[in-house]
Amino acid sequence: MDINLVDQDLYARDGAPHDQLRWLRANAPVYRHEGDAERDWPRFWAVTRHADVVHVSRRSDLFSSSRRLSLFNEMPEEQRELQRLMMLNQDPPEHTRRRSLVNRGFTPRMMGALEQHIRDICHALVDEAKGMPSVDFVRDIAAPLPLYVICELLGAPVEDRDKIFNWSNQMIGADDPDYAADPSAGQNAAAEVYAYANALAAERREQPREDIVTKLLMPDAAGETLDENEFDLFVLLLVVAGNETTRNAASGGMLAFFEHPEQWRRLVADPALAGTAADEIVRWVSPVNLFRRTATADTVIGEQEVKEDDKIVVFYSSANRDEDVFADPYVFDIGRTPNPHIGFGGGGAHFCLGNHLAKLELRVLFEVLAERLPNLAQAGPARRLRSNFINGIKDLPVTLA
Ligand code: HEM
Repeated sequence: MDINLVDQDLYARDGAPHDQLRWLRANAPVYRHEGDAERDWPRFWAVTRHADVVHVSRRSDLFSSSRRLSLFNEMPEEQRELQRLMMLNQDPPEHTRRRSLVNRGFTPRMMGALEQHIRDICHALVDEAKGMPSVDFVRDIAAPLPLYVICELLGAPVEDRDKIFNWSNQMIGADDPDYAADPSAGQNAAAEVYAYANALAAERREQPREDIVTKLLMPDAAGETLDENEFDLFVLLLVVAGNETTRNAASGGMLAFFEHPEQWRRLVADPALAGTAADEIVRWVSPVNLFRRTATADTVIGEQEVKEDDKIVVFYSSANRDEDVFADPYVFDIGRTPNPHIGFGGGGAHFCLGNHLAKLELRVLFEVLAERLPNLAQAGPARRLRSNFINGIKDLPVTLA
């Protein structure tokens, strides 16, 4: 089989190159992927089986997040400096300290307290959509929900929402001309978010509030605190990590329901299934297709030897369809239990900080949609984001009645 796992157009067509990934799991589960000189992609090992992705994710001593920072290509030094300070790009023990400081804001209890608020937002979005002549599920429902929730977490004023929305699109969609006019747009947007976070922190230090931002700026029980730089970078990470991912899970989930109408009827008949549906949506869509690590020593993944400094790319989109772990992995089943998907990462130090929040948003959204818009239908083709990293949908026209 002709293998090319970096071609953005393949992802724009099907979300992920599932045929190639299925073949790799069976025939070459840790596959030496050639580079692409034209795009400056180096060679890397593509890890496609669930067990191997979990192994790589959990052994941050063997597979570093801080060496060779970018996903595929290398980045300019000044950008690397900034990236190095982000939690996502650190290894223990630096990572452990920052992660435990921000964990305080994201406990299941703190997220649970947001449920009613999220429900109110969902109802308001449905009310608004009902008054519109034509509705795009991404623009009108899936995108605003996580954006409003993040703005709420940050205590950002309503009038700043559009600005934050555009910045996050430009950062994530840097390879998609619809989102970013040129390659520098993503970097410029990141600088804007950074400055915005800085101003936000200054405001909260002066006037503390009962919110997560204030909490994160306060010292923890051991007297540790995030410094200014760390805080600004954390906000940057939140805007990128919390917005697009949840949006694409919601719109990818809706598309899955359109493609499997019997599952939609099942949910409408029993909206309590929205809890297991949220997990199945994350498995099915795998909104983050892949992530990268770098080997810190000569070691093995499965039966494959890899060398120190080799680049490793783990494919969640593949692990989530692994025949060894999931019965009928190509069936979208909203009642699937157990569902050991790894859409939020394979465990270990970097496991998604926002997983409780994302699942809460998805559960409440699909409960509200099933109750209030049982006749929701697709009204035109879905257009996918051109990105091998994020499985995204740009437009999904729908009718409500
Ligand atoms: C990390 C997926 C929603 C914040 C990650 C990782 C994945 C992921 C795959 C990397 C795991 C690893 O490297 O081992 C998702 C998906 C989401 C989602 C699929 C939605 C369906 C969110 C939300 C937030 C968030 C809502 C915040 C509000 C983060 C942060 C990290 C992260 C801060 C970095 C954690 C660290 O480095 O310690 N997420 N995420 N994510 N996510 Fe999420």
